[in-house]
Amino acid sequence: MKKLLLIPIIATTFAFAQGEEGYTQGERILDMQKMAQAMQDIQAGFFYNNLDIVKDGVKVLSATIENIRPINAEVNNKDIYERWLNNDLKMSNKIRKKIKNKAKDIEDRFSSGDAVQALQAYSKITQQCLKCHINLRKW
Ligand code: HEC
Repeated sequence: MKKLLLIPIIATTFAFAQGEEGYTQGERILDMQKMAQAMQDIQAGFFYNNLDIVKDGVKVLSATIENIRPINAEVNNKDIYERWLNNDLKMSNKIRKKIKNKAKDIEDRFSSGDAVQALQAYSKITQQCLKCHINLRKW
C-alpha cells in the first residue's frame, strides 16, 4: 500500500523539477547531436538502400526537432528572450515545421523508390539546420 502511494509522489516531484529547470543548454546540445546522428543515419540508409534505417532516422529527427526551443538561461535573460520573441521563436517554429515536412517527404519518397526526391528533401533539411545556426549564432 505504501509503495503504491510513493509512485505518484515521485512522478509529481519529477514533473515539478523539470518545470523548474526548463530546457538546459546541455539538453539542447544533446538534442542537436541526436539530430546530427539521425541525419547521418538517414544518409547511410540512402547509401545502403535500406528503408528501415531511413525510417528510424526520420523518426528520431521528427521527434527531436519538437524539443528545440530557447533554453532556460535565454528565457530568463530579458534581452535574449526578447530577441527570441521578436525573431528567433518565429523563425524556429517555421524551421521546425519545414524540417518535419521534409522529413516526412524523405520517408514517403524513399518508400516509393524515388531516391532523387528523397535526397532533395534531405538537403532541404540541411539548409534549414544551417539557416538557424547562421541566424542565431553565426555557427
Ligand atoms: C532553432 C534553431 C536551430 C535549429 C533548427 C537547429 N539547430 Fe543545431 N544548434 C542550435 C544552437 C543554438 C546550437 C548551439 C547549442 C549550444 O551550444 O548551446 C546548435 C548546435 C548544434 C550542434 C553542435 C552540438 C555540440 O555538440 O556542441 C550540432 C551538431 C547541431 N546543432 C546540429 C543540428 C542539426 C543536424 C539540425 C537540423 C536537423 C540543427 N542543428 C537544427 C540551433 C539550431
